[in-house]
Amino acid sequence: MSVVLVTGPTAGIGKSIAYKFAERGYDLFLVARRIDRLKEIALDIEKKFNVNVEVLQSDLKNKNSPKEIYDYSRETKLDVEILVLNAGYQHNKTLHEVSLDDEEDCLRVLGLSVIMQTKLYLKDFIKRGGGKVLVVSSVAGFAPASPRYAVLYGPVKTFMNRFVEAINAAYNRENINATALCPGFTVTEFHSVSGTQKQMDKVPSFMKMSADDVAEAGINGLFKNKQIVIPGLVYKFLVNTLRFLPNGLVKFIGNKVAGGRYE
Ligand SMILES: NC(=O)c1ccc[n+]([C@@H]2O[C@H](COP(=O)([O-])OP(=O)(O)OC[C@H]3O[C@@H](n4cnc5c(N)ncnc54)[C@H](OP(=O)(O)O)[C@@H]3O)[C@@H](O)[C@H]2O)c1
Repeated sequence: MSVVLVTGPTAGIGKSIAYKFAERGYDLFLVARRIDRLKEIALDIEKKFNVNVEVLQSDLKNKNSPKEIYDYSRETKLDVEILVLNAGYQHNKTLHEVSLDDEEDCLRVLGLSVIMQTKLYLKDFIKRGGGKVLVVSSVAGFAPASPRYAVLYGPVKTFMNRFVEAINAAYNRENINATALCPGFTVTEFHSVSGTQKQMDKVPSFMKMSADDVAEAGINGLFKNKQIVIPGLVYKFLVNTLRFLPNGLVKFIGNKVAGGRYE
């Protein structure tokens, strides 16, 4: 049975994606830092869906993590067919205050590790006659840049959207397809981890999505070979109209819905 590799399945969107692939009968290879949670989730999934689940503790802040993950899957003979590159967080500091190391860590987890993992599996995908990559990006990749905190979060997600486009342009002929899943505000541990729970609490409920709905939209889009998936009508509307509105108005709207992040 072919295997789905999911990074960041111990919470939020990645966890929902892992359960949904297992429900569809796929074996899983789950990677994150919290090994207790990984083992607990693996046991639960194996019991519920009768699939095999392999886990690996790895910190994607480390430069050698993508190679470690790839080597482990080769050693254990996992036939990885789908990559779900989801792990992520935000540091919520200003550009001049965050240390060089912390900035680099964040960019590595959100950006460089996604590229390196994809690069490592491409040769195998070509050999096996195809493969799929689901990159969990964000609507922040389309929104105006945050003027104060986590300034590089949006730009790195824009980069991931362009990376997905580049993979499709270069490898669609080899039956390799990539999808960028671009959620808006989603109820997960993301905001408590980044210290932005207060702003998230101010976001109107019609702007908040569940991790399950986001995961379902992402998997459906992946199987339809969609390049960009924006879950939810509200966000589809916003992304498609934002580009025609004046910048000042976009920032005003952003501020109203983003709990004061654009103040
Ligand atoms: N929530 C939102 O509003 C929202 C909106 C748009 C996009 N997104 C994107 O969605 C993705 C998932 O976020 P989420 O909302 O589901 O957040 P979450 O609930 O906090 O889950 C984040 C996952 O990433 C893993 N992770 C974080 N740092 C890691 C590291 N250094 N090495 C390995 N794994 C790491 C965590 O596992 P461990 O802590 O166990 O390592 C956890 O499983 C992210 O890429 C985020 O940018 C989120």
